[in-house]
This record gives sequence, C-alpha cells and structure tokens, in this order.
Amino acid sequence: MNIQYKTIKNLPNEELYNLFLSVGWAKEETTTAEMINNFNIGFLNSTFVISAWHEDKLVGCARVLSDKHFRSILYDVAVLPEYQRKNIGKTMVERCFQEYPNSEWLVQTDKRKDFYQTLGFKYNTDDFLIKPGKYSV
Ligand SMILES: CC(C)(COP(=O)(O)OP(=O)(O)OC[C@H]1O[C@@H](n2cnc3c(N)ncnc32)[C@H](O)[C@@H]1OP(=O)(O)O)[C@@H](O)C(=O)NCCC(=O)NCCS
Repeated sequence: MNIQYKTIKNLPNEELYNLFLSVGWAKEETTTAEMINNFNIGFLNSTFVISAWHEDKLVGCARVLSDKHFRSILYDVAVLPEYQRKNIGKTMVERCFQEYPNSEWLVQTDKRKDFYQTLGFKYNTDDFLIKPGKYSV
C-alpha cells in the first residue's frame, strides 16, 4: 500500500472530523457545523503536524506542541480503523521524533499503551492530571 506522508498543517476539516469520528474522538450528536468548520484549528496552531494519505484520502494524523528543543507533547495520533496495524501510526510518531531529535516526549493517554511502548515510551503513572476546557469530551 502506497502511503504518503505530509507535514502540512492545513488538514481538510471534513476529513479530519471523519477521522476523529472513526476513532471515537468526535460524536455526531454533539458536533455543530461551526465545530466542523474549525476542526483543524489545533493542527494549524501546532508546532508540527504529520498526516498520512492513501490516494488523496486522509488516513492518519498526529500533532506536536513543542519548544523545539527540550520538551514536546504528542496529541491526536489517529489512524482510520481500516488502515490500522500497517505501521502508519508508528511512522508518523517516528517522523515527529526526527523533527526534534533531542526532545523529551510526553503523551497523555490511557489507551493503546502497547503502541506507545513500541515507540520507547514508559509509563510511570496511569495518566496525567488534566483540567478540562470548554471543548473537552
Ligand atoms: C494507536 C494507533 C494510532 C496506532 O496506529 P497504527 O497505525 O494502527 O499502529 P502501527 O501499525 O504503527 O503499530 C505499531 C505497533 O504498535 C503496537 N500496536 C498498535 N496497535 C495495536 C493494537 N491494536 N493492539 C496491540 N498492539 C498494537 C504493535 O506492537 C504494532 O506493531 P505490529 O503491528 O508490528 O505488532 C491506532 O490504533 C489508532 O488510531 N487508535 C485509535 C486512536 C487512539 O487510541 N490513539 C492513541 C491514543 S492518543
């Protein structure tokens, strides 16, 4: 399968929303048109964005908030279910590591620890503390 990787930040809102829907991070019942029209705002404002494409279809994404040297945080690492277990997620995260090779990396999740462990993450705690914001689900 020929997967292309792009570092553009301006990911198409509708496709990004569908990717989030497919992994359970968005819900049709609670998503307004205004939210869909601004779906990529977190990506536009991230330090680094990587996306995976198959024949012009968005199949994966990941984004990084980073000081570009010491500390970086991964967000929104997702692959369409029908494209999972094909090394796409790993390739995207490794591309993020390459961008800031000396950085410490954090990820906040209680899911898919197996995936992150293959990428060298270790879990000292079950999760991070979080203060929910207006759009938290
Ligand atoms: C987590 C996710 C991004 C992984 O992407 P992916 O492209 O399927 O993962 P890869 O194919 O790169 O997997 C790399 C390795 O991680 C581990 N891994 C990934 N998914 C796994 C699963 N479902 N079960 C067990 N191990 C898994 C395996 O060791 C795998 O290597 P292998 O396939 O050679 O055994 C994808 O499953 C996803 O989008 N899940 C829903 C969203 C999510 O939970 N994101 C992570 C939390 S933020």
